[in-house]
Amino acid sequence: MNVLFATSEMFPLIKTGGLADVSGALPQALSNLEINIKVILPNYADLKNEYIASKSSIGKVEILGQNVEIFKTTLINSKLEIYLVDHPTFSARKGNPYMGPDKNPWHDNPDRFGLFCRAVVALAAGEFNENWHPDIIHTNDWQTGLIPALLSESDKPKNIFTIHNLAYQGVFDRQTFERLGLPWSLWRDNALEYWGNMSFMKSGIVFSDTVTTVSPTYAEEIKTKEYGYGLDGVLNNKGENLKGILNGIGEDWNPATDHLIDENYAPEHMAGKYITKTRVQKHLGLPENEKTPLIVHIGRLVEQKGIDLLIQAIEALKDENIQFAILGTGENRFEQTLNKLAAQNPHKIAVHIGYDEKLAHRLEAAGDAFVMPSRFEPCGLNQLYSLKYGTIPIVHRVGGLADSVTHSNEETITAGTANGVVIDYLDVPAIIWAINYFVSLYENKENFNKIQLNGMNTQHEWIVSAGEYKKIYLALLQEH
Ligand code: ADP
Ligand code: GLC
Repeated sequence: MNVLFATSEMFPLIKTGGLADVSGALPQALSNLEINIKVILPNYADLKNEYIASKSSIGKVEILGQNVEIFKTTLINSKLEIYLVDHPTFSARKGNPYMGPDKNPWHDNPDRFGLFCRAVVALAAGEFNENWHPDIIHTNDWQTGLIPALLSESDKPKNIFTIHNLAYQGVFDRQTFERLGLPWSLWRDNALEYWGNMSFMKSGIVFSDTVTTVSPTYAEEIKTKEYGYGLDGVLNNKGENLKGILNGIGEDWNPATDHLIDENYAPEHMAGKYITKTRVQKHLGLPENEKTPLIVHIGRLVEQKGIDLLIQAIEALKDENIQFAILGTGENRFEQTLNKLAAQNPHKIAVHIGYDEKLAHRLEAAGDAFVMPSRFEPCGLNQLYSLKYGTIPIVHRVGGLADSVTHSNEETITAGTANGVVIDYLDVPAIIWAINYFVSLYENKENFNKIQLNGMNTQHEWIVSAGEYKKIYLALLQEH
């Protein structure tokens, strides 16, 4: 079975968030399940070339008057093959794949990702010098959403579209639709047209054979008005062809082998966690004290993640015996407020604005708790990493957070299922309550150790999720 996995980011080559983690781990897990899978992504200027072997061209094709070249390479350390779609709007722009230095989306994003989609379709149709043809194309998020619509009706590969975040839809005006050279037959309500605009996301949903999203609960949530962003109707129409599969934990996230943390550790020898904790406290300028609870947060500083609420909760707790460490980048207003809060409370609150892979691993290891008060969360990876690292997740009961974290109370502690703290109704007092509740758990060593170990022993291996995707691929091929 040949599968082409199309994505706009992939760890370790280029990453802005969880999509990269998934694209870095899922294809590898699928290839371990004997699937012949190759990944295709844009050839960005900031792609980390040190992780790939030398590239060879499989030719150039003219698409909408533009020359698009595809390079073929493999990931060093694995046999996974990668195609890189080359065009100056990718390869001549440094920085974030989606936005310029002013933090605004690149004005020509629909053109860039439209071109990417057409290049994927041209590759599948054999227009490049490549003798490999996918039976299935697996597309991800709006940047790949035109692919299912553009595949020709005759002899087309089956395709699956995975929604990682319905909030980013790739909605553009009608002039853009015309400029992208799309057939008018696609400008209709049961195609790309979305309230007078065009939507890449809608295209992916409507034209794919199967839609998946990254947790079972989110698969249900997006069928409602509240979480459906106007697409709940088309999502409901998918019926049985909409499924939720929880993401897994990549091999890079294991405290027993993680080379980015200060000392490795595992359930049977936890000392490394506390060595890492005090070193991280020192690194961040916080008082080095193994006993003071350290609550960490890593993420995009945007409303989705509830960072505005978290900031208010931290402000209210700043005089308690609790340390907070936050790593993130995002909206300027949140970056500025966080920096101010840290400057005013240097012994309690540490903030690092920026993207820092190593610090992210060190914080996961150092923290006693990871607070993730997301308003919505398709899956969320940091709560999974936290479980594995013995860092108690404090989360809002939504999406993948609801599917992976079990609230700790007498009943669940006795049953051996408790692994975190869960907020049912999200607001600032609820976050304050949850953090205080965590501290009370932390102070009862016996219970705390149980909760911590339950988390560390939770299995969220990619191979299990990959097995679910494989089932979908097999079912699609049978239909073929
Ligand atoms: P999302 O994809 O919505 O941003 P996820 O929880 O699925 O959220 O994944 C986020 C990923 O990005 C995690 O691997 C997290 O550690 C990483 N990450 C987010 N912000 C940063 C940052 N500032 N520095 C390093 N890693 C980050
Ligand atoms: C998105 C979601 C996040 C999910 C990630 C990977 O960015 O916001 O919840 O974990 O994709 O699927």
